[in-house]
Amino acid sequence: MPDLEELFENNRNWSRRIRETAPDFFNRLAALQSPKFLWIGCSDSRVSANEILGLAPGEVFVHRNVANLVIHTDLNCLSVIEYAVEVLRVEHIIVCGHYGCGGVRAACEHTQLGLIDNWLRNIKDTYARHQRELESIDDAAGRTDRLCELNVLAQVQSVCHTTIVQNAWTTGRQLAVHGLIYRLTDGLLHDLAVRIASAGQLEAIFRMEKIDRNSGPCEN
Ligand code: CO
Repeated sequence: MPDLEELFENNRNWSRRIRETAPDFFNRLAALQSPKFLWIGCSDSRVSANEILGLAPGEVFVHRNVANLVIHTDLNCLSVIEYAVEVLRVEHIIVCGHYGCGGVRAACEHTQLGLIDNWLRNIKDTYARHQRELESIDDAAGRTDRLCELNVLAQVQSVCHTTIVQNAWTTGRQLAVHGLIYRLTDGLLHDLAVRIASAGQLEAIFRMEKIDRNSGPCEN
């Protein structure tokens, strides 16, 4: 594990290498970021968005938390989504989980860990909704990995249920939400084959329309 001195040395070398090949790279980036992608992933140190995607600084806007959750009371995550959609005008939101996720594994267990129990409780909800399928899987690792996938699919829905994303669709914006999962053992991303790009793909109860309150008299 490098100490801080090594980190600074790494940083200086990295900066020099980039400036040697593209002298105006940092000045250009300092003036403007225009990423096409928002990545919502796990905080796990092994799942680094830019490296996995082969993207340079400036090409992906990133939000990470334990077990890549999108919770509707999480101002941090919602603020990131709002900024990415409304200001940066990203075209794709990628929710990426990973197999062997410690947060998902902990949600399968019954031991209190502290504050994080409240966070991981959201994954238990997903477990409960898919209990029969999950408990038909014999080995614990396989069960956790399937829950990792189901958790991504649930969070994709959660992103789409925000008024931020739905308002973007209402105005005709091209915005697609995707679910991916990463395998730590081979470094490969897998598409969970979910791509939501319109409110019509959502269950009706979650569709939210914006009413123009100045357009007519209020009857209530
Ligand atoms: Co994880």
